[in-house]
Amino acid sequence: MEEMERLLARAAQSLCEASAVVCLTGAGVSAESGVPTFRDAQSGLWSRFDAAELASPQGFERDPGLVWRWYMWRLKLLEAAAPNPGHIALAELSRTFLKFDLVTQNVDDLHEQAGSVDVIHLHGSLLRFRCRLCAHRHRLTEAERGGEGPPACAACGDLVRPDVVWFGEGLPLDALKAASEAAHGSDVMLVAGTSGLVYPAAQLPLIARQAGATIIDINVERSAISDRAALFLRGKSGEVLPRLARALQSARA
Ligand code: OAD
Repeated sequence: MEEMERLLARAAQSLCEASAVVCLTGAGVSAESGVPTFRDAQSGLWSRFDAAELASPQGFERDPGLVWRWYMWRLKLLEAAAPNPGHIALAELSRTFLKFDLVTQNVDDLHEQAGSVDVIHLHGSLLRFRCRLCAHRHRLTEAERGGEGPPACAACGDLVRPDVVWFGEGLPLDALKAASEAAHGSDVMLVAGTSGLVYPAAQLPLIARQAGATIIDINVERSAISDRAALFLRGKSGEVLPRLARALQSARA
């Protein structure tokens, strides 16, 4: 049996014995859908753009137009993207467990498009907009999408911003609480496509491991999570996750 098959069989066995599974995903899971990751040396967003300028409250204060146009460009990319076999395998996998929590750092909705429900979004959504001051929800018009700067809030007149978490901001408390509870109660945590460098999301595998869960990491290269994982499955999530789902089917048969 080749090494990868052996690792997949071990991962499937752990999943077979688990009653509560959590999956933590990052940008790598959407990479095969054409959505850029953040830290890839060549194609990652943070290798080409300045995070402090584009993804912080201070950057938005300094140049709202620049930030707005960048997010509108990213929104277009997301809207053109479709779920890949990794998203689909996770949705299918989730339906075979009584308790399966999907926690994502991604601000796209590709997990939902693939059929996953109740996805816990730790970093918000790029498909939602709100006032930076009063948090009033805002529905974008076509003209606003193509605008040079953010629209004004209909409730208070301040600036509308994407409902994503920026550097220096706290995570949505309900999402963080749900994710931490899921990690505490898990038997297996699957981690896919994340560098594991951004906290508090990166804390979740540690919480799960301390609670006795088996960590299975899927990534094209070793990450900050891989060394803490019981199993590291090297490869694209769009290929490894469907293989893992098939291995689980065989293990259950
Ligand atoms: P990163 O860009 O930091 O990491 C992406 C990870 O995916 C890397 O470890 C890659 O090796 C891996 N990867 C790339 N393609 C892959 C593929 N096809 N299959 C499997 N793995 C693949 O993205 P995140 O870890 O998601 O925060 O970054 C965390 C947060 O940092 C993001 O949510 C974002 C960013 O700043 C906010 O927007 C608040």
